[in-house]
Amino acid sequence: MTSNYVSPFIIDEPTREQILTGTSLEDFLENHAKSNPGDGRAVSDILLGLAKCSIQVRETINQGALGSAFAGVKGSTNADGDNQKELDVLADDNFLDAMRSVPVALYGSEEINNPVLLDSEKKYAIAIDPLDGSSNIDTNVSIGTIFGVLPVVGEPAKNPDETFLQPGSAQLAAGFFIYGPQLAFVVSVGNGTHIFVYSARSGAFILAYENIMIPDQTNEFAINASNHRQWSAKQQHYIDELLAGVDGPRGKRFNMRWVGSMVADAYRILIRGGIFMYPGDRRKGYSDGRLRLVYEANPVSMLAEQAGGGAICCNKDGVTRILDIIPTGLHQRIPLAFGSSKEVDCLAGYSKKS
Ligand code: AHG
Ligand code: MN
Ligand code: MN
Repeated sequence: MTSNYVSPFIIDEPTREQILTGTSLEDFLENHAKSNPGDGRAVSDILLGLAKCSIQVRETINQGALGSAFAGVKGSTNADGDNQKELDVLADDNFLDAMRSVPVALYGSEEINNPVLLDSEKKYAIAIDPLDGSSNIDTNVSIGTIFGVLPVVGEPAKNPDETFLQPGSAQLAAGFFIYGPQLAFVVSVGNGTHIFVYSARSGAFILAYENIMIPDQTNEFAINASNHRQWSAKQQHYIDELLAGVDGPRGKRFNMRWVGSMVADAYRILIRGGIFMYPGDRRKGYSDGRLRLVYEANPVSMLAEQAGGGAICCNKDGVTRILDIIPTGLHQRIPLAFGSSKEVDCLAGYSKKS
């Protein structure tokens, strides 16, 4: 069928100077490779492989309900018992395939029970949440992909789990892609956190925020408040005092935002500050909250810390820096709080109070 239809939405807008002159992701990673003779080249190749794949995944997402990947629930569950959607599985397949042509030995994914051995000769592993915010897929709300890059330890063919049981402080790089109004890539290779925005015009990720710093103070928090009655007394006390506003002990009004996709809440916190919490609660299966340590909490904690923020676990044992925790399993959950450093410290104070 031919059509003479001319879209009124094609606008020949001037290209932003930043797109022409800004640092591309390729340039940034080339520089990282050259200045880090040890792991730099391999890490750069892996990040580039992930970034290329994200553009492909984003194209599928952009089709929305017009595409076949929005058919809804796939009828299967992942390692954590969550219903898998078509897009969860499709994104996982795409990223797994993309990792076959970069120096990755092991692929540990939310969507697969055990790590996948790709090449036992390679020296790096990827821990990944291929599609974060599954419940938002059908609602046209931002979703994302979160990952950490780890060095392989031991013998990946014989004991693939060992590599994923390293603390988050062992990550060589971490990041997330957000499929939102913009496709953006938030990444750290251990020297700050940087945000690249994809320019469809130039077909490249362009550095938009170099060394982004989370404001250390905030009056905005993110938590699923519907779980209030299920939280510990300390967690309730902290939130109740935020809600008390100017008349309460904190002496200021706090605003609340909860997207339901951690990537979107994390992006907002990087841009304008805030604190994100998914504490443990009394619901069955939620004693350690909902978020997974190895492929959600660890990457976002590295990004938060590299941006001057904090990331902690508060539970009955006290307060622990997320990146110091030794994981017990690839799919382990962890109570997570991250964001503006002073507010994270403040939460830690409440968690220690007896
Ligand atoms: P996933 O879609 O990968 O399972 O992760 C969803 C996570 C996270 O993105 C979000 O912050 C949280 O689940 C939302 O949980 P609630 O639905 O309990 O609010
Ligand atoms: Mn997730
Ligand atoms: Mn997911």
